[in-house]
Amino acid sequence: MEKNTIGIGIIGMGWMGMTHARAYQQINDRFHDSPLQPKLIICADDVVERTTEAKTRFGFQRTTTDYRHVIDDEDVQVVNIAAPNSMHLEIVEVATAAGKHVFCEKPVGRNPAETKAIYAAAHRAEVLTCVGYNYRWAPVVQYAHQLISEGKLGTLTHYRGRFFAGYASHPQAVLSWRFQKEVAGLGTLGDLLSHVIDMAHFIVGGIDSVVSQQETFIRERPVATAGTGTHFSLGAEGETDAVTNEDYVGALVRFENGARGSLEACRVITGPKCEMAFEVHGTEGALRWNFEQMNELEVYLPAEDGFPDGYTRVLSGPSHPFHSYFNPGPAVGLGYDDLKTIEAYQFLQAIHTGKPGNPRKSRDHDHRDGVLPPSFREAAAVADVQTAIQTSWEEDRWISI
Ligand SMILES: NC(=O)c1ccc[n+]([C@@H]2O[C@H](COP(=O)([O-])OP(=O)(O)OC[C@H]3O[C@@H](n4cnc5c(N)ncnc54)[C@H](O)[C@@H]3O)[C@@H](O)[C@H]2O)c1
Repeated sequence: MEKNTIGIGIIGMGWMGMTHARAYQQINDRFHDSPLQPKLIICADDVVERTTEAKTRFGFQRTTTDYRHVIDDEDVQVVNIAAPNSMHLEIVEVATAAGKHVFCEKPVGRNPAETKAIYAAAHRAEVLTCVGYNYRWAPVVQYAHQLISEGKLGTLTHYRGRFFAGYASHPQAVLSWRFQKEVAGLGTLGDLLSHVIDMAHFIVGGIDSVVSQQETFIRERPVATAGTGTHFSLGAEGETDAVTNEDYVGALVRFENGARGSLEACRVITGPKCEMAFEVHGTEGALRWNFEQMNELEVYLPAEDGFPDGYTRVLSGPSHPFHSYFNPGPAVGLGYDDLKTIEAYQFLQAIHTGKPGNPRKSRDHDHRDGVLPPSFREAAAVADVQTAIQTSWEEDRWISI
């Protein structure tokens, strides 16, 4: 089979940059029967040790400390952005002007205005885009989407989405760039609730209006050492600085289709570690999923023949989208990095076929083999909800989107 080689350049070689490099590398194996052949060309980080480590581990041909060299590299077709949020707008503008396809990590811009500007830049340049809303790609989440698209739940009535993370619940958790408004922009509304809003769009559809609240529970943290550790690291006693964005955000929402629900996220909650979860209910049934058990979907379909009157635990298996690319057996589960591999594959597939990303109501798509990645267009839809949530907590009232 003739392979379509796609040159990849990655900017920012921290946690996500390394994860993306691994994901592109994995495509050659996991999706070996596809004509796609990603090639890691060049990576950039302003900490030189991170680029040399990435070259050793993943075999990039070249490294640089200047992200512009990634964009200028004629072997690079995809610019993959995994740098802190403050860099995203600038990099996207330069990359799209050069006609490169762009993958950008969520929350895309530091704030909704930047995300909309990023969407506009890519739209003008007519390049293909993808955003790291990776939780969509869990096989049982795809299956949940399929059940809803087939009308198995009847009319949707309730949805509760949340991302409860404990990465900063310890007061000594370092003041990484995520806690600084200048670099990260929004706090949890950008970092974690962007995933929650995108999942709500994917599972239920558009959001009509919101009322919200926010809080910063831990207002000072130990200063982080640049270029070391991750946002999971603990700092030493000593110099501290102020947290300048929110730890918690919660919103009541009304969906366009009439369903009612809530969206919540927190980075300092004790107990949950990575509880990116949803519960969805319709007139005919219900589903619930939690990333902490990402290979399980709880399904309640009382009208189905022989279905017991209670939730049934369905385990991820080869009958669910993408599972068999990773394992032949049911309950031989996938992990977080596998979601990144599926995501990268979907993006390269979109480039290979020349098709743009999903329209906003992505459930209209055939997701068995034609799924296309959430693009900057989906991120712009998330940004509209973020704007309404922020306005609501500032003005203490319901806001329409
Ligand atoms: N989709 C997800 O599940 C997920 C998870 C974590 C992070 N993210 C997103 O990924 C992005 C990166 O987050 P992370 O956790 O990997 O952060 P990180 O701090 O671990 O890595 C960021 C890297 O960027 C480098 N960098 C800083 N300035 C740079 C510059 N000018 N040029 C090149 N490199 C530069 C840093 O040295 C660091 O190595 C963020 O936008 C974040 O929101 C997404």
